[in-house]
This record gives sequence, structure tokens and C-alpha cells, in this order.
Amino acid sequence: MNHPISGFSKLSKEEKINWIAKEYFSAPIDAVALLKNYWNSDEKLQQLHDEFIENTITNFYIPLGVAPNFLINDHFRTIPMAIEESSVVAAAAKAAKFWSSRGGFKTIVSNTEKIGQVHFIYYGDPSKLEHFFAQTKARFFTDTQSITKNMQKRGGGILSITLKNKTHLLANYFQLHATFETKDSMGANFINSCLEQFAKTLQSEAQQYAGFTQEEKNISVIMSILSNYVPNCIVRAEVSCPVEDLEEKGIPNPLEFAQRFVQAVQIAEIEPYRAVTHNKGIMNGIDAVVLATGNDFRAIEAAIHAYAARSGTYSSLSHAKIENGIFSFWLEVPLALGTVGGLTSLHPLVKLSLEMLENPSAKELMQVVAVAGLAQNFAALRSLTTTGIQEGHMKMHLNNILNQCNTTNAERVAIQNYFNTNAVTHSAVIDYIATLRN
Ligand code: MEV
Repeated sequence: MNHPISGFSKLSKEEKINWIAKEYFSAPIDAVALLKNYWNSDEKLQQLHDEFIENTITNFYIPLGVAPNFLINDHFRTIPMAIEESSVVAAAAKAAKFWSSRGGFKTIVSNTEKIGQVHFIYYGDPSKLEHFFAQTKARFFTDTQSITKNMQKRGGGILSITLKNKTHLLANYFQLHATFETKDSMGANFINSCLEQFAKTLQSEAQQYAGFTQEEKNISVIMSILSNYVPNCIVRAEVSCPVEDLEEKGIPNPLEFAQRFVQAVQIAEIEPYRAVTHNKGIMNGIDAVVLATGNDFRAIEAAIHAYAARSGTYSSLSHAKIENGIFSFWLEVPLALGTVGGLTSLHPLVKLSLEMLENPSAKELMQVVAVAGLAQNFAALRSLTTTGIQEGHMKMHLNNILNQCNTTNAERVAIQNYFNTNAVTHSAVIDYIATLRN
């Protein structure tokens, strides 16, 4: 029977580990040793990581890989990717190489607007609220000047504030809906600080507004928070080439390949079950770069999937066509990213990843991330419509099986040689290891 604990966060790291080990592990000494094995010997570095969150007990590794040869707008880049799935970096690198000799990736950022809302309840005449808002609007800007001053110097700030009547959806529910430009920062703190000030201004100005009855003056702010849905913060990435240029080893008939590829995308456009998996493949690339560059992948995931469902039906984020003998494949995604602030100046590997990307602006990072998503989608669809996904996937997964079976270096060489020409399946590998060991 396990026990609850009070004051856990006040314990030292050592005490926390000891409590967990005693409470949950049959071999507490081994559990403590394993946790400590992942501590960094550089105490300052460890302290930095300890302080990112509460109750840190150790570090949790994910590999940081790189995919070179990405030609993006005529500029070669090596893309850092933090991800645990075996085949993702290999697939990205393969797609990068493929497109580097076919014109590369072309990208464009169409907008970078962010959104925040003050959600409030107002019991009264909506036309009076509109009148009040029109009179008070300037105050929202002046009352936030101390917050917006620095952002304005960088070319950003509050773009607009509008009053929205949502009472047809929920009784007495209104919003202040504001848009922001946050330049190279993701902007969450900036936006939330502005919104909380809007809420204060809204309530205090309402109290003083002579046109309101006492009930109307008592505006009840429910919450003030940015929206992670950013349909006006959009980047597009595209590849295209004459159909015949798609030919290479594995694509003997480029027209047939292009047609099957376009059909695979069309299926994801109209079939939500397929669209989710199709988009998951895109997110393999997107999340890996988002994580490596210290951005909030949960926010990115939430925004992108909402965008994929904006028509009312969940659909593919990417599209493809063959027109006048040209094969084109493109993707459009919302990406609210930052290259300053947050983890970007704290986590040493995030700083390194950003430096590898030549310290991009947020707009440049949006382009790199979208390209990683498109490349991943291309690689997945190429495999799915030709050899099937398992061939490449299992090749990469082979290492995981070898690790599970604690193979020696000599066994690994023999196994790699054998599976260069034989299909990798879990049972085939297990059987072959047994044969070697006998
Ligand atoms: C696996 O992580 C991703 C894929 O399933 C994507 C897809 O099916 O397009 C291969």
C-alpha cells in the first residue's frame, strides 16, 4: 500500500529520490543508482536543468540528431532534430538529399499574427457595452504602455483589440479579442501580461462608466489568456520538379510514382482516419525541430491539428498535384515560434541548435520547421506508395532490437550483414540471434 506525502516539493532532490525509491521500487538501491546515473557531473549544468521544473529527480534523454543537405530557398542548412523514433532523422536526411538536386525547398511566411482573449460575462444591454468599448478602447493601449514599450522598439506590439459578442453561443458571454505581433519571441508572456492588464482596465473603466446600471458595471472576467490557435501565423513550404526528374533508384517509373503519390495525398484530404496518420508523419519532422530549438511542441501540436480541422472535417495539411508535367507538393501550417526568450537562451543544446541554424529569426525558423514537416511527409509517402513503410522502418528499428537482446559487437556485425539482404522482422532477428548463439 503506497502512502501520500505532504511537503514533497520542499524535500531536497536526494530526499525526493529516496522517498520514491522506498515507496515504489522492489530494488530501491538500483532505482536510486539509475536515477543518479543520469545526473550530469557538471553541477552547474545539472542545477540549470533541475530548475527548469519542480521536483526534478534526474534528466530524461532523447537523442539530438541532425539532417544535413536541406536546400531551403537556395541556402543549405543542417537541421537539428530531437526525437526518439528510429526512422525519422534518416527519412528527413533522405528527403533532403533527394530534393537538393531538384531545386530544393521553397518557403514563404504569409503572416505572423498571434491572438489573445479576455473572456468575460456581462449582464446587460449589448449595445451599451459596444458604446462603452468604443469610448474606452484607447485606454487598453495606454494602460499597457509599460508592457508594450520594449516590444514596440522591436517592431511589435498590440495590433488590434475588438469586442466580440458570443451570447448566441453562451449566455452573457463576451470577449476582448486582441491580435499581437511578437517578432522573434513566441510572445506568450507578453501577450498574457497585456491581456491581464486589459482585464483590469475593462473592469475598472466599467465601474466608472456613467452609462451602465450597477449590474452592468459588474463585469466578471472569467479568464485572460493567449490562444494557441494561430490561423494567421502561417508558413508554406513547397517542392516541385518536372515529373521525369523524380526518377532515381527505387522510382523507375516517375509518372506512375507521381500519380500514386498525389492519390495518397488526396486520400488524406478526404479521409480523416488517414489524415491523422498522414499529419502525424508531418509532426514527426515538425516536433523534432520545435523541441531541439526549445519551443513549446504542445502549443504547436494543438494549433496545427486545429488548423487541419478548420473546414469542420479533419484533413491533410499537405497537398500535391501534377500540372503541365510538373509535380508539386506543398504544406501550409500555423507555427507560433520564438528564437529569443524562454528556453532559447537557457538550454545549452537549444542555443547550439539555434546556432547550427545560423541564429534564425522566428520567421526563418518557421520556414525550417515547415520544411522538416514536408520532408518527413514526402519520405513517408514515398515509402508507403512504393516499398511499404516497414522496410525502412525495421532497418532503423534493428538497433533497438539488438539493444533489447544485449548483442555483442561481433554479433552486431554478423546481424547487420545478414539483414542487409534479408527482410527485418522482430522474429527474424530473434531467430537469427539464436542461430548465432547456438
Ligand atoms: C510513423 O511515425 C509515421 C507514418 O505513419 C506517417 C504516414 O503514415 O504518413 C509513416
